[in-house]
Amino acid sequence: MSENNVPESVAGAIRDDPWLTPFAHELARRRHAADEWLKTFEQNEGGILSVADGYKTYGFHEDGTGVHYKEWAPNATQAFLVGDFNDWQFDKEMQKDDFGNFSITLPKGSIPHDSRVKIVLTLPSGERVYRLPAWITRCTPPPKETKSVSYEARFWNPEHPYQFVNQRPYPSESLRIYEAHVGISTPEPRIGTYKEFTQNVLPRVKDLGYNAIQLMAIMEHAYYASFGYQVTSFFAASSRYGTPEDLKELIDTAHGLGIVVLLDVVHSHASKNVDDGLNNFDGTEWQYFHSGGKGDHPLWDSKLFNYGKYEVLRFLLSNLKFYLDVYKFDGFRFDGVTSMLYLHHGVGAGGAFSGDYNEYLHENSPVDKEALTYLMLANDLITKVAEKEGTKFISIAEDVSGMPTLGVTRKDGGVGFDYRLAMALPDMWIKLLKESKDEDWDLNKIVHTLTNRRYAERAIAYAESHDQALVGDKTLAFWLMDAEMYTNMSVLSPLTPVIDRGLALHKIIRLLTHSLGGEGYLNFEGNEFGHPEWLDFPNINNGDSYHYARRQFNLIEDDLLRYKFLYRFDRAMQHLEAKYGWLHKKDQYISLKNESDKVLVYEKGGLLFIYNFHHSNSYTDYRCGVEVAGKYKIVLNSDDEEFGGHARVSPDQEFFTTDLEWNNRKNFIQVYIPNRTVLVLALAD
Ligand SMILES: *[C@@H]1O[C@H](CO)[C@@H](O)[C@H](O)[C@H]1NC(C)=O
Ligand SMILES: *[C@@H]1O[C@H](CO)[C@@H](O)[C@H](O)[C@H]1NC(C)=O
Ligand SMILES: *[C@@H]1O[C@H](CO)[C@@H](O)[C@H](O)[C@H]1NC(C)=O
Ligand SMILES: *[C@@H]1O[C@H](CO)[C@@H](O)[C@H](O)[C@H]1NC(C)=O
Ligand SMILES: *[C@@H]1O[C@H](CO)[C@@H](O)[C@H](O)[C@H]1NC(C)=O
Repeated sequence: MSENNVPESVAGAIRDDPWLTPFAHELARRRHAADEWLKTFEQNEGGILSVADGYKTYGFHEDGTGVHYKEWAPNATQAFLVGDFNDWQFDKEMQKDDFGNFSITLPKGSIPHDSRVKIVLTLPSGERVYRLPAWITRCTPPPKETKSVSYEARFWNPEHPYQFVNQRPYPSESLRIYEAHVGISTPEPRIGTYKEFTQNVLPRVKDLGYNAIQLMAIMEHAYYASFGYQVTSFFAASSRYGTPEDLKELIDTAHGLGIVVLLDVVHSHASKNVDDGLNNFDGTEWQYFHSGGKGDHPLWDSKLFNYGKYEVLRFLLSNLKFYLDVYKFDGFRFDGVTSMLYLHHGVGAGGAFSGDYNEYLHENSPVDKEALTYLMLANDLITKVAEKEGTKFISIAEDVSGMPTLGVTRKDGGVGFDYRLAMALPDMWIKLLKESKDEDWDLNKIVHTLTNRRYAERAIAYAESHDQALVGDKTLAFWLMDAEMYTNMSVLSPLTPVIDRGLALHKIIRLLTHSLGGEGYLNFEGNEFGHPEWLDFPNINNGDSYHYARRQFNLIEDDLLRYKFLYRFDRAMQHLEAKYGWLHKKDQYISLKNESDKVLVYEKGGLLFIYNFHHSNSYTDYRCGVEVAGKYKIVLNSDDEEFGGHARVSPDQEFFTTDLEWNNRKNFIQVYIPNRTVLVLALAD
C-alpha cells in the first residue's frame, strides 16, 4: 500500500487519473485475478507462452516420427480420425487420456496434403457425431454438386511452405491504419484473392502513406455475409481468398513495404454452427461456451465463450500466438470488446453509458470479470511474444463503452490495450451531416468530441470505418453527395454546389479527425477517395449478388472523375503526418474557435492548422495566433487544384510572424482563408 491507501499494483493507473482512487481496490482485485492465472500457468506449464503454444501440439502436425493429431473433447467416450486417406472408415481409433485429450499418431506420409479429414466422436449416449477438428488450419466450402452446406476440413501440409524473407517493421508511434477486407478488394463482382491484394492493393496502401493494414474476415467463417464476424474455424485463414501460403506472402510483402499487418480477431463470440463450428463439439453445450442462455448472444445469434475455463483460455491464447508466430501478424484489433466486458453485452439499457465510473468500476457493476481477465491475459501474451522477438505488437480494443483503464498497461494496473477505437467520432460526423445545416455546426462541440478522451490512454481516430459503409448506413461521401455521385463526378460536367461542398467537407472532416481525434488514424478501404454506395454481401435478400461486395478502385484510375482529388488529398495528408508526426506528439494548442466566423485554429506537431468552415465567407488577412516566431509556408492546402479545390490561395506565399500576442499565442500571422477550406502551415527552414 502507498500512503493514500492505493494498492501498489494499480498505483500507475491512479497516478494518471486520481478520480479512480475510490475504485482502487476493485481495480486491484481485477488485476489480481489475471495475475493469479499467470501464476497457475507458471506452475502448471512453465508460463503463459507455453500455454499459448497449444497450437503446436493440438490439431495436426507431421514431423519425422509421423502424423500426429490431438483434440480435447472431454465428454466423448471414443474418437476416430477419418478422412479421404482411410475412406472414412472407423479403423483409426484415438487414445483418450485422463484430461479428455484424444490423440493418435499415424506413419509419416499417411495423410495426403490438402485431403479432407474429420473426427468422429462417440457420445455417452452411444451416438456418433462428425466434427471438423477444432484446431484445423484449412477449411473449404462443400463441393457445389453435393447438397451439403457445411465447410470441410483439410490437412494442410505443403511440401514447400511459404518462406518469409522480410523482417517485421517496428510499428510506428504514429499508426495510420488502412482497414481492408481481401474479398471485396477488387472492382469486379466476385471474391478477391490474397494474391490480388498483394499485387494490387498493397502498392496503393504504400502510395497513400499508411503504415498499417487491418485485415477483416480472415478467420474462417462459413457464412460470407457475416463479414467475418461469425467464425467457424479459428485457426483457419479463410480459403475463399486462397491458401494459407498466399496469406503469408501478403503479410511478408507488406512487411517488405514497411507496413505492419493487424488481424481483426473475433474472440467475443463464435458461430453457432455445429457441423463446421465449435458449438456442441463434444456433444455438450458447455465445452467451449457457457451453457444455457448465458452461452447465447442476445443479438448476434452466436455463441459466447466461457473465459473462466483453462482449456478455453488455452484455445484462445494459442489462437493469438498462432497468428503472431505462423502468419507473422503484428497485432490485433479485438472485435466486440464491449460485448465481452459486460454481462448485458452492451445491449438494451445496459448499452447506454453515461461515463460515471460506477458503471464500469463499482464492484457490483455488470462487468464480466472472466472476460476482463481474459483480455488482460491476451495483452500479457502479446507483450511477452513481442519482447521475445525484440519488437512491439499492437493491440486495439473495439470498445464503445469507454471503460477506464482499458488502455493502461498491465504493469500500471490496466487492461493493457495500446489503443481503443474512438467510436464516438463517426457518430458525431454522421449526426452533423444528417441533422445540422452547415451554418449551425458548433465548433466548440466538434472540438470537444474530438479531444474528449482519457488522458494517457490512446485512441484510434476515424471519420468512418467499415461500419458506416454497411448497407443500411451511409458513408460520409454518400451523406454529402448522394445521388449526384452518379451523375456529377465527371470533370467534364460543371461543378455543382453539392459536389463542390461534398469534396470540400470530405477533405476537411478527414484532416480534422486525423489531427485532433486520436493518437492513431484509421480509414476503411475506398473511403479515402469517397467510394460511392454501400457494402452488402451476397445473400438471399439480394439474389446472391456481388454488386455491392467490391471496391471500385477503377474510379481513381479514371482521370475524368473527381474521386482522384480526394485520393490525392488523403495521400498528401498521410505523408504530411509521416513527416511531422502529429498523431504521437503532445504539443496541441487550440487558439481559436470562432463560432460566427466558423474559423478554427490550432497548433499540433509543430504545424499550424487553420480551418474555415463557413459556407460562403472567405476572409482576407485573418489573424491567427502562433507560438513560435518565424517564417511560415503552406504545406497542405485543401483548396489546391490538385485536390479539386479552386486555387484561391497562392501556394508559394511566405508568412512572417508579428511579435504581438494574439489568442494567447506569442505571435500572429495573417492569412487569406477561403470558405470551406483548410490550410496547414509549417515553419520554413
Ligand atoms: C458427459 O456429460 C454428461 C452430462 O451430459 C455427464 O453425465 C457425463 O459424466 C459426461 N461424461 C464425461 C466422460 O465427461
Ligand atoms: C490434456 O489436457 C489437459 C488439460 O485439459 C492438459 O493439462 C494436459 O497436459 C493435456 N495432455 C496432453 C497429453 O497433452
Ligand atoms: C447533377 O445531378 C443531378 C441529380 O442527379 C442532376 O439532376 C443534374 O442534371 C446533374 N447536373 C449536372 C451538371 O450534370
Ligand atoms: C469572432 O469573430 C468575430 C468577427 O471577426 C469577432 O467579432 C468575435 O469577437 C470573434 N470571436 C472570438 C471568440 O474570437
Ligand atoms: C465560396 O466557395 C465557392 C467555391 O467552393 C465559391 O464559388 C464562392 O464564390 C465562395 N463564396 C465566397 C463568398 O467566397
